[in-house]
Amino acid sequence: MEEQKKKVILSGIQPTGIFTLGNYLGAVRNWAKMQEDFHSAYMIADLHALTVRQEPADFRKRILSCYALLLACGVDPEKSIAFIQSHVPAHSQLSWVLSCNTQFGELSRMTQFKDKAAQHADNINAGLFTYPSLMAADILLYQADLVPVGVDQKQHLELTRDIANRFNGVYGNTFTIPEAYTAQGAKIMSLADPTKKMSKSDPNPNGCILILDEPGAIVKKFKRAVTDSDMEVCYREGKDGINNLMTIYSAVTGLSMDQITADFAGKGYGDFKAAVGEAVAEHLRPVRERYNDLMNNKDYLVECYRKGAEQAERIARRTLDKVYKKVGLLAK
Ligand code: TYM
Repeated sequence: MEEQKKKVILSGIQPTGIFTLGNYLGAVRNWAKMQEDFHSAYMIADLHALTVRQEPADFRKRILSCYALLLACGVDPEKSIAFIQSHVPAHSQLSWVLSCNTQFGELSRMTQFKDKAAQHADNINAGLFTYPSLMAADILLYQADLVPVGVDQKQHLELTRDIANRFNGVYGNTFTIPEAYTAQGAKIMSLADPTKKMSKSDPNPNGCILILDEPGAIVKKFKRAVTDSDMEVCYREGKDGINNLMTIYSAVTGLSMDQITADFAGKGYGDFKAAVGEAVAEHLRPVRERYNDLMNNKDYLVECYRKGAEQAERIARRTLDKVYKKVGLLAK
């Protein structure tokens, strides 16, 4: 009985590189926490990453190392379905049906499309444009109630809801309408320019913490973080750099903003930045250690992602069959 009441969550991350502190605090860390109370499925969104040209041999290795990172961040394949998107064909299959139920105008309004099209002006491909229909398929296949993501993915979630509502309206109740779940840390900013989100593609490598960075490098990057010209460690409008550092410090130590302000009263920004750097380096130490262990045990990783694909396939297939039937495709 208790089992049946558990809500379903699904989320994913692109294997475009080592996860950033933003990915970790905004999303992946919450996935590990949420798997205790929900039926959860988490995936490496490799098909999404193909919207940008990848070097094949390098990409293949990166997919595996990102899968290892997912587990290193605490996603437990005994508690969650941990899988690789391309291993479950239903994602591409549902994506086509949903693309036929998504409007050109809706896709044109997506800010991620506009940003990526500007970043990769020589490769504005159809996949980049229809990316949100594939993401809707990822979510709707599992009938997810909640989707834990960072703030930058909320627009895609809104579109997923619109697509699902429209489909349900035309063909009868088919999909659960999902909700975005964002936690503290849902928008971690660049250390070099705190008005921009922290991202692997930050032109300044000091702006971005990668979760496998060595402790010394982490501390150094925090020491260089851009702040402001007053001296007070407090969370206030207009103090983007300090607000970001406080958000990060609070997320890794559990201290409230008021406690942080009290602890650093009368101290300079130098002390605060060093404390944030050390706390983050310490917090990420076990992740790095688990990652190294997992990468030394590739057989275990293969076993886990194969099991994940089988579990995911069973759920996804059920939804896809239902959809094919609803839209009038002839069963084989
Ligand atoms: P991706 O790979 O860009 O990022 C993975 C997750 O990390 C969050 N994130 C951040 N959170 C806080 N601060 C930041 N600076 C920051 N940078 C990234 C993202 O919001 C995301 O939650 N389209 C998705 C992947 C995806 C997906 C899905 C997500 C594919 N299918 C289905 C949810 C459900 C993406 O590109 O995330």
